[in-house]
Amino acid sequence: MSKKRDYHLPSLKDAGRRSREEVSVETFSLSDEAKKLGEGKTYYIRTHGCQANQRDSETMAGILEAMSYRAAQKPEEADVILINTCAIRQNAEERVYGEIGALKRLKKEKKDLIIGVGGCMSQEEESVKTLVEKYPQVDIIFGTHNITSLPALLESVVKEKKRKVEVFSRQGEIYEEVPVTRFASHKAWVNVMYGCDKFCTYCIVPYTRGKERSRRKEDILLEVQDLLKEGYQEVCLLGQNVNAYGKDLKDPDGFGGLLEEVAKTGIPRIRFMTSHPWDFDDRMIEAMKKYDNLMPYIHLPLQSGDDEILRKMNRRYTSESYRELFDKLRRELPHYAFTTDIIVGFPNESEEAFQRTLDMVDHCRYDNAFTFIFSPRIGTPAARMEDSVPMSVKEDRLQILNEKIAFYAKEANKKFEGRDVDVLVDGLSKRNSSVYSGYTPENKLVNFKGKDIHIGDIVRVHIDEAMSFSLNGTAIEKDPLF
Ligand code: SAH
Ligand code: SF4
Ligand code: F3S
Repeated sequence: MSKKRDYHLPSLKDAGRRSREEVSVETFSLSDEAKKLGEGKTYYIRTHGCQANQRDSETMAGILEAMSYRAAQKPEEADVILINTCAIRQNAEERVYGEIGALKRLKKEKKDLIIGVGGCMSQEEESVKTLVEKYPQVDIIFGTHNITSLPALLESVVKEKKRKVEVFSRQGEIYEEVPVTRFASHKAWVNVMYGCDKFCTYCIVPYTRGKERSRRKEDILLEVQDLLKEGYQEVCLLGQNVNAYGKDLKDPDGFGGLLEEVAKTGIPRIRFMTSHPWDFDDRMIEAMKKYDNLMPYIHLPLQSGDDEILRKMNRRYTSESYRELFDKLRRELPHYAFTTDIIVGFPNESEEAFQRTLDMVDHCRYDNAFTFIFSPRIGTPAARMEDSVPMSVKEDRLQILNEKIAFYAKEANKKFEGRDVDVLVDGLSKRNSSVYSGYTPENKLVNFKGKDIHIGDIVRVHIDEAMSFSLNGTAIEKDPLF
């Protein structure tokens, strides 16, 4: 007989179901009691994973501050620690377990410390089981659809001193008017849609983030207009598949239409992540040709250059259709930079299949790429596929691929040597505090020397030298007459 649990486990199976039910839009509110719960107390949030998680952490921070908690500089100083987790690959999960393990000591020293675990791992039944059974230091486990329940969860942990698990496996509403504390004052993430319905066979995201749901266009535009008023220089429109935007709203203008509207707000820099090759339509290309504040950069994940693997991945395109789209984008948008994502070692990937991925990289000559070894995720179809490729072969393939990527990255960067570019400044470089760093419109990282430079400035920089993954330069002094 199994032990009776005093909590509900999430179900990946339920999370993988898609209903035709309309998504409701809810407004967030806080009780007077909740608004005071954090008086005199502090919080610390650690974020893993993608930009969606970064943006969610900003919402968590906003909610905690609305409850009167203040930010702590270090976890050791905090009364509430939240870990926003990622489940995309095994090593991401292992990092999280290591981190939670290390918090045990803090919890021993500080009995009232509250530790919460949110994000994509909290949506997985196996991870929740492990967290509950092996990590007694965790007080709250909350899913990606349960961020707005944080006030209630914190209140009950404070009052009852009992662990709380709240993870909805259903598809989630859209919440508007949720407090947000942005971590940067010059660049902002703006969700345009949540979830993913693509179900690539290797990927956990459709299970951890629910079904595709677009935000109303007016809500997105209001957010961008507010950011502009607050002095933000850049917005990045976020979604797992931004080009599926509006399908659920029956919006005939789709993502291309949204891009135009956002461009018309006049915010200086607009980016978007991620555009799936499927659904990348001419309307988007038209918008990108028309507006200079749409940054000349596209991330177009390839995953594999082999048709058989692409089919097994359920990517919905062939190597030929990807190549056609890519060539069209290069032709129509010649000044754009292109990056991609590639997985090596998908189950039973043959040497020839891997070679076809390398051939595609030779064809596309990407500016950069994120490369990964396939990691089986429990509950996804690919995790059940037979795989006879040894890990050592996968590791060799990753290295060969990475060398090729670095070669083309350097080639693309070389073209910038001697040019003057506009850099949106992020601050001092993380690696070398005697230089500043920031990004060009093409999303190239630039480290540069200069005087009187501030975060959020857009500075003209002369590029002296190209490295594989960054550019080195010198700020061009402004003419004192102007
Ligand atoms: N929505 C985006 C991808 C988000 S996940 C898109 O479809 O483009 C980011 C990247 O992680 C993916 O593009 C893929 O290359 C990689 N990835 C996802 N699941 C993985 C897995 N199980 N093993 C290895 N890499 C994976
Ligand atoms: Fe994952 Fe595919 Fe959705 Fe991207 S499109 S989030 S890779 S299922
Ligand atoms: Fe990771 Fe979830 Fe993002 S799995 S990559 S944090 S959507």
